Amino acid sequence: MRSLRKTVLLIILVSVVLVLALLHSWPTRSYTTVDVWQRHGPIVERRLEERLSDPDQRLGNIPFHVRDSVASLLARNGCVCEGDSGGVHLPFAQLLFPRVSAQPLHTAFEAAELEEVKRRRAKEYKSFQKRSQTPADVLIIAEANNPLQYPTQGVEVRPLKTIIIPGLALRSLPRDHYSINITASLGTLNVAAEVDGVKIKGDGEMHMMLSSPLLLNLNRQLQFVTYTNTLFHPSTADTVRFETEGHEAIFSINIRHGVTPKLYNTGSKAADYNISALVTIATKTFLRYDKLQDLIDSVRKFYPNVTIVIADDSENPKTISGPHIEHYIMPFGKVENTFIFTFLSFAIDSLPLSSSCCMFKGWFAGRNLAVSQVTTKYLLWVDDDFIFTANTKLEKLVDVLERTTLDLVGGAVREATGYTATYRQTISIEQGEEDGDCLHVRRGFHHVIQGFPNCVVTDGVINFFLARTDKVQQVGFDPRLARVAHLEFFIDGLGSLHVGSCDDVTVNHATKIRLPWVSQSESDKTYAKFRYPLASSDATQLKNGLLFFKNRFQCLTHN
Ligand SMILES: *[C@@H]1O[C@H](CO)[C@@H](O)[C@H](O)[C@H]1NC(C)=O
Ligand SMILES: *[C@@H]1O[C@H](CO)[C@@H](O)[C@H](O)[C@H]1NC(C)=O
Ligand SMILES: *[C@@H]1O[C@H](CO)[C@@H](O)[C@H](O)[C@H]1NC(C)=O
Repeated sequence: MRSLRKTVLLIILVSVVLVLALLHSWPTRSYTTVDVWQRHGPIVERRLEERLSDPDQRLGNIPFHVRDSVASLLARNGCVCEGDSGGVHLPFAQLLFPRVSAQPLHTAFEAAELEEVKRRRAKEYKSFQKRSQTPADVLIIAEANNPLQYPTQGVEVRPLKTIIIPGLALRSLPRDHYSINITASLGTLNVAAEVDGVKIKGDGEMHMMLSSPLLLNLNRQLQFVTYTNTLFHPSTADTVRFETEGHEAIFSINIRHGVTPKLYNTGSKAADYNISALVTIATKTFLRYDKLQDLIDSVRKFYPNVTIVIADDSENPKTISGPHIEHYIMPFGKVENTFIFTFLSFAIDSLPLSSSCCMFKGWFAGRNLAVSQVTTKYLLWVDDDFIFTANTKLEKLVDVLERTTLDLVGGAVREATGYTATYRQTISIEQGEEDGDCLHVRRGFHHVIQGFPNCVVTDGVINFFLARTDKVQQVGFDPRLARVAHLEFFIDGLGSLHVGSCDDVTVNHATKIRLPWVSQSESDKTYAKFRYPLASSDATQLKNGLLFFKNRFQCLTHN
């Protein structure tokens, strides 16, 4: 009996504690729902259309002459890919007379499925646009003779925080009464202080009215206007309308978190760069342990303590040991049937001694694995059949990245014949309409870098480059692609990677000439089996399919 009472008491006690705990943790804040679809404020859009479609009628009668040399530089409505016609068919013709060739990308799909693919791509693209655009991207025009003073750019607020809107004022002719309306859509307006003689309505709301018979007092009041973001988004913008009788101005307030830096502690500064503290060498290997060992030995001659990260997807991985070596073993043949053949084949194949390394499963996946393990400020990407020489001066590449705003700098690869390649490519994207954009790839570069006469700014470089680790990790390597689809990485990085190339830092490419009296090793034979896993036409289809859908291109030109 007593034990029963005890149990009941205990249960009551526990329940009371539980209820108290529940009440305590019950959210006291009420949460509003947020529409996180990105779209431009309908008001702004309408105003803009009205203004742009209402040009001064009198201007239409004034004659003008088109300056073709300039007008032809302007973007057309839509884009086309055009190749050079004609041309000669000689050996090395592409080297001697480089021509531009064009290719459509939609041919990667069957005619029957193409419409469906296009519809899916359009849907994905629409949602990408909604995610990537903010009202801060909308064109805003300040009208002439506007008595309103306001900030045109540079106003920023952290999500859900409050700021004073700087620079608001009214410079009006004398009147009996002055009034101002301010309207926001992702936050509320208020005043941090009240000024005598000014009437405030709608403070704490999205639409606030200020009025006063005294212009000075109203202007004083405008100095205290605050904006509080109320709808959370990590990076967007609010468009604020600022009005007085007969005049209106629109400006935007950026709403975003501050950029969190990723800094690397590189140790105390010696006279020279400490390469072991600054750089990790990353590579991906598959079966070619003899070549990899040659690479490691050559690195050790010059950089005994630099860390080497190796991603390996060989079927029967061997142990690679030694100081400062990290060997990561991947599942064999993990990425099935997704080899993409030589994106750069047009460039590479036309070179003497075409580079034929490493087209096999999971090349880019392996790159991601290797790159993900790097903890130094910079990483140096090398292929497993490269050899360091006295000309492989990493200090020079580090110096370029330390002293410029570049994120990635490529070197040069020297073939056994003495031929040196940098594969500098410029990439441009011409905006198209529903069919997609046009991708244009050309050999070459944009500018020489001041202070570094051997270095240029470009968009894509060879497989031997030093890069800021965090930037490479951000762009990532599409695991669906194989190595010679290398340029894909630079296409994905366009707009976020600042790329350079220096031809005075070289690495040697292990010889590709196989002498007929030297028999091929077992591993070389197996390697060769995986090198060209797909017929080249199938692989081109795969590559074109990705360019068509993932990057939304309709066609490609290159030389
Ligand atoms: C301010 O807004 C109110 C109500 O929305 C409107 O009646 C008034 O005309 C507006 N004033 C100005 C100067 O735009
Ligand atoms: C260079 O960096 C490595 C790794 O951080 C460190 O062990 C070594 O002492 C440094 N060398 C010099 C000369 O500062
Ligand atoms: C490499 O490390 C060893 C042992 O830690 C050290 O004695 C040597 O000075 C280092 N070499 C360089 C070039 O930093």
